Amino acid sequence: MTDDEHDLDGAYALRTPADSVRYYRDWAASYDSDFAEAMSYQSPAVIAAAYVALGGQGPVLDVGAGTGLVGESLAEAGIGPVDGLDISAEMLETAAEKGVYRRTIVGDLTRELALGDAAYAGCVSAGTFTTGHVGPEAFDELLRVTRPGGIFAVTVHGVFYETAGFAAHFAGLADRIAGFRTEPFRIYGPGAEGEHRDDSGWVVSFRKS
Ligand SMILES: C[S@@+](CC[C@H](N)C(=O)[O-])C[C@H]1O[C@@H](n2cnc3c(N)ncnc32)[C@H](O)[C@@H]1O
Repeated sequence: MTDDEHDLDGAYALRTPADSVRYYRDWAASYDSDFAEAMSYQSPAVIAAAYVALGGQGPVLDVGAGTGLVGESLAEAGIGPVDGLDISAEMLETAAEKGVYRRTIVGDLTRELALGDAAYAGCVSAGTFTTGHVGPEAFDELLRVTRPGGIFAVTVHGVFYETAGFAAHFAGLADRIAGFRTEPFRIYGPGAEGEHRDDSGWVVSFRKS
């Protein structure tokens, strides 16, 4: 399913931003082939389709952009410009090589972002709000960098949605967001193997009020 040293169990075992920097530094080169292709990873295409269906436009921030799979799907849908933010410089190097990002930005979603207020017409994210990665607190900063009326479409892993308190956090944002929706989806497609092959998540979408 993956290279010898990197797999979903390893990713879910991460605990801190520093863990992610180390882990993804060495996974960047093989992530697309040994993970995304091998598992028929659906989240990037699912989230790009959701953003398009909601009328999302550029400029859009891809949050936890990784190797750029969401950017590729957005480019195929004619959405741009897209900026990609991630804590891993090596993942972003792979993303930049794909030529679909206006800009890549090394940044930590658990901290204040070096981005201007209301800089984006929307935010998208796949695979970043998951066990051991980024929790719901990041949405405070993401709302700051998004324009009023801007569209959010992000995946949240099904188990993490419960354990990390996403529902309560979104409820607390009720006076700042509108049109909140959750749709279930399967993270992996036909051909996926291993204990995570049936994992599911939520497509969470809303507008900034
Ligand atoms: C499973 S990958 C998903 C990448 C890409 N969006 C995709 O769907 O293929 C999770 C990404 O989240 C990034 N990440 C983890 N913690 C982060 C943090 N605190 N701030 C920014 N990015 C983070 C990792 O570096 C990694 O690229």
